[in-house]
Amino acid sequence: MMTTEIATKGWDLFNRACKMIPGGTQLLSKRPSMFLPEQWPSYFSKARGVEVTDLDGRTYIDMSMMGIGACVLGYADPEVDGAAKAAIDAGVASTLNAPEELVLAELLLELHPWAQMVRYARGGGEAMSIAVRIARARTGRDKVAFCGYHGWCDWYLAANLAEDEALDSHLLPGLEPRGVPRGLLGTALPFHYNRIDELRAIADANRNELAAIVMEPQRGQEPAPEFLENVRDIANELGAVLVFDEITTGFRMTDGGIHLLAGVNPDIAVFAKAMANGYAMAAVIGIESVMQAAQTTFISSTNWTERIGPAAAIATINKFRREKVAPHLIAIGSQVMEGWRSLAKRKGLQLHTSGLPSLCHFSFEHEAELRLTTLFTQLMLERGYLAYNQFKPSFAHSSGQVESYLATVEEVFDLLARDISEPNSCNRLRGPLAQRGFYRLA
Ligand SMILES: Cc1ncc(COP(=O)(O)O)c(C=O)c1O
Repeated sequence: MMTTEIATKGWDLFNRACKMIPGGTQLLSKRPSMFLPEQWPSYFSKARGVEVTDLDGRTYIDMSMMGIGACVLGYADPEVDGAAKAAIDAGVASTLNAPEELVLAELLLELHPWAQMVRYARGGGEAMSIAVRIARARTGRDKVAFCGYHGWCDWYLAANLAEDEALDSHLLPGLEPRGVPRGLLGTALPFHYNRIDELRAIADANRNELAAIVMEPQRGQEPAPEFLENVRDIANELGAVLVFDEITTGFRMTDGGIHLLAGVNPDIAVFAKAMANGYAMAAVIGIESVMQAAQTTFISSTNWTERIGPAAAIATINKFRREKVAPHLIAIGSQVMEGWRSLAKRKGLQLHTSGLPSLCHFSFEHEAELRLTTLFTQLMLERGYLAYNQFKPSFAHSSGQVESYLATVEEVFDLLARDISEPNSCNRLRGPLAQRGFYRLA
């Protein structure tokens, strides 16, 4: 599957898109310039299992983001697609409601026995806004302490009104708060993961003002001993709602939220992405006393009632549980991480790996890190892989595929090592460097 020509149709289409669609795509992480400017295939005609076909008819193995973490079972999973098609055949919308909403609620509450109630949305960011609105409605307070990335909405970007760089160490640097009302200044208060002292300082300074503490229970780093327990205690002490954002971590390490492994329960947990294998679906689950506050405010939208999302989520979760998908993701991700580490060592590359096995990442520890990462993506693409310095395994990845991928990584790491030892000797990079961070994007 060696492809050496540069894909052209996709990039041409992206240039046209930028004239009609601000930024070209709807999701920052799908902007082709983030991966490989002028060369990334950009658009797909078909995706199935772990294979993606571009507009030039080339088929690649996806060893990168698998729908930015949404397609946890693999692309076009027959069981999930079957459920979606059945929903279409039965009618996706009517004046009456879809009973699948209840089936899904029972499933989510069975997996998370601490929760009693569920609301739905279709996107992760909007579901987080619902969670924060419920917390504010419940407490009658405005302020939110948070750590990590939680989407595009005003409540979150308000952190950057206070201090331009407040969000820089919370996953996506340079997020602009333009258009976010100045009146929200001082309502979103960031703390760092594992820094209970920072949360404690926010809590002490805002005792009767904190509506919620919002965070991912785990992401890049392991929780320090007692960290999550202490966060829980602070939320209890202040009467603030503890919200765990499981949009990316949910249905990757276990059947449901990763917090189930930590044994610390939030008041609200939010799911999206993997819960419906690429279909639009999001859920806010929580304890009854907090969730009932949704009745005291207005949270309502027509497209939250369509049938495909819940039908796809039920099928995804049922297959996820039945096929024991989480251990498979962990095994595949661990194999990839171990491969990255041992191949880098063999080739003399300084490589740092991080993240959960089912959400893993590497970075070159070198001054030309961006050039090496861009070149990695290009050389892998030329060899038939969508590859990046992040990997999100799916149930459709097999150990054999990982072995073939690692054989190609070995070849590419070898070329990168030579690129380092003989700088500019072989001008392999065919286009500009990959772009990073929102502020660098056109
Ligand atoms: C932890 C977390 N929260 C929220 C979001 C936003 O979700 P969405 O892109 O579905 O709006 C993401 C997306 O990557 C995420 O990783």
